[in-house]
Amino acid sequence: MTFIQMHDVIKIYEEPRTGLQIPALRGVELTIKEGELVCIIGPSGAGKSTLLKLLGGLDRPSSGSIIVGDKRVDQLPEEHLTEYRRYDVGFLWQFPEKNLLPVLTALENIELPMKIAGFPREQRRKRALELLRKVGLSDRASHKLHQLSGGEAQRVSLAVALANDPKVVLADEPTGELDTHTTMEIISFMRELNQEYNKTIVVVTHDMRFEQRSDRAFRILDGMISGIRQAKNRHEVLKMDIEAPPEREELIYVDQFGNMRIPKHFLKQANIKNHVRIRVENGKLIVEPAD
Ligand SMILES: Nc1ncnc2c1ncn2[C@@H]1O[C@H](COP(=O)(O)OP(=O)(O)OP(=O)(O)O)[C@@H](O)[C@H]1O
Ligand SMILES: [Mg+2]
Repeated sequence: MTFIQMHDVIKIYEEPRTGLQIPALRGVELTIKEGELVCIIGPSGAGKSTLLKLLGGLDRPSSGSIIVGDKRVDQLPEEHLTEYRRYDVGFLWQFPEKNLLPVLTALENIELPMKIAGFPREQRRKRALELLRKVGLSDRASHKLHQLSGGEAQRVSLAVALANDPKVVLADEPTGELDTHTTMEIISFMRELNQEYNKTIVVVTHDMRFEQRSDRAFRILDGMISGIRQAKNRHEVLKMDIEAPPEREELIYVDQFGNMRIPKHFLKQANIKNHVRIRVENGKLIVEPAD
């Protein structure tokens, strides 16, 4: 069942001093199913954070539609948007300081969103302890941010993101500050929580290590989704090694004008420079270099 749908989403920022228009998203098309763990991979400036902020209701698109669950997020009035951010989505940011309050303990941090939501004390504590156990940190309940390692802090942050039982978790470069071992650990925890609680999880990152570990990996380039890699099945995803070679076949989005973006590695492999010759043969589109 489709859970997230972005259609022709455009976001243009305006540079306040110069009035210059900066297109950050240029017609994003994206469909994510309920319970999927997907990543959106792209280089710096591709529009990853912008896309995530729009999904999370932290900013509005210049045009296009964004549907999350049963809500038309781009059209939600401001007061409903606050509720949406509080109850429908959980955020996980790159820097632990953005996820956790340094004066609170790990347990108190996880309780905080539930406190704001008005849950009774007993219930808060019970759920916070359970989430802490889920991320393997029961013995760190009374630790504050400065007493946690980078990886531990992100695990607590993941528990915070899940505190109010949101339908979807949005993560922006959640392992940007971590080494490979800790990164793999965080990805595993995300996968476990995704499966156990059936949470839809969207990770935006430049980290290719997410690609093989997610149900689907989208590529984003210059503000457009340019490719999709689809895992054959979930178990395969779990077993896959990070060193596994990239898939040879890719799904590429073709927009309403017929534009498509051929990934760089294909251009290189097929020795395509500036021109291609195309023809249809037995129902297949053949693309050949013509330089
Ligand atoms: N508030 C803003 N005002 C003006 N331009 C912005 C604003 N936020 C982002 N941009 C521009 O929009 C484009 C996309 O930015 P975005 O932060 O979404 O990229 P990103 O893929 O998250 O990059 P990174 O990997 O470095 O975090 C960039 O060119 C950026 O400079
Ligand atoms: Mg970013």
